Amino acid sequence: MEGRVLRSWVLVMMYLLGGCATTLGAAYQDQMKPETVARWLSWRASEAGRNLDEQSLWDQRLAQDVRPKLDLGDAGLARRAHGIYHQRCSPCHGTPGQKPNLPIAPALGGQGYRFGMLMGGDNMARGIFDVISKGRNQMPAFAGQMTNEQIWLMVEYLRSF
Ligand code: HEC
Repeated sequence: MEGRVLRSWVLVMMYLLGGCATTLGAAYQDQMKPETVARWLSWRASEAGRNLDEQSLWDQRLAQDVRPKLDLGDAGLARRAHGIYHQRCSPCHGTPGQKPNLPIAPALGGQGYRFGMLMGGDNMARGIFDVISKGRNQMPAFAGQMTNEQIWLMVEYLRSF
């Protein structure tokens, strides 16, 4: 008798744990692994109807004078942004809304950030771009590992949490 009760409990617990794993899995399905620089450039080139050289030149300009318009309402871009953040940034900065994993890394995003972006506009956005691109103290530089457009995508993404 005791054994049967125990077995039922084990089954109930396995069912509940299975449910949790599925729910967590669903949240993480909503992101993509970051693409390499080459793959990103060729994907964006085909979308914009440019050849690879034109796309590379266009991307280089994004480090200087141009701030691209990137719409996170676009499901494909949003999944990519989640993927980049979770793979490259959250190891130090943590999950949005939670404590950073690396104590010296500041928590990113939130109201202060959105307010700053609103008041600081392009200058503030450019400042954030530069930190991600060139790094600062313990913050690694991502230029070369990510396209400039991917870095701008992160600037936008930080506004969404
Ligand atoms: C190895 C850990 C590490 C990783 C990975 C990392 N950061 Fe950082 N980040 C830091 C630290 C530490 C600082 C604080 C730098 C300083 O001393 O000013 C920082 C600062 C920043 C700042 C400036 C915040 C402010 O308030 O001035 C931004 C923006 C930022 N990181 C974005 C990112 C993004 C986006 C990624 C992923 C592409 C990322 N970081 C990956 C450690 C990291």
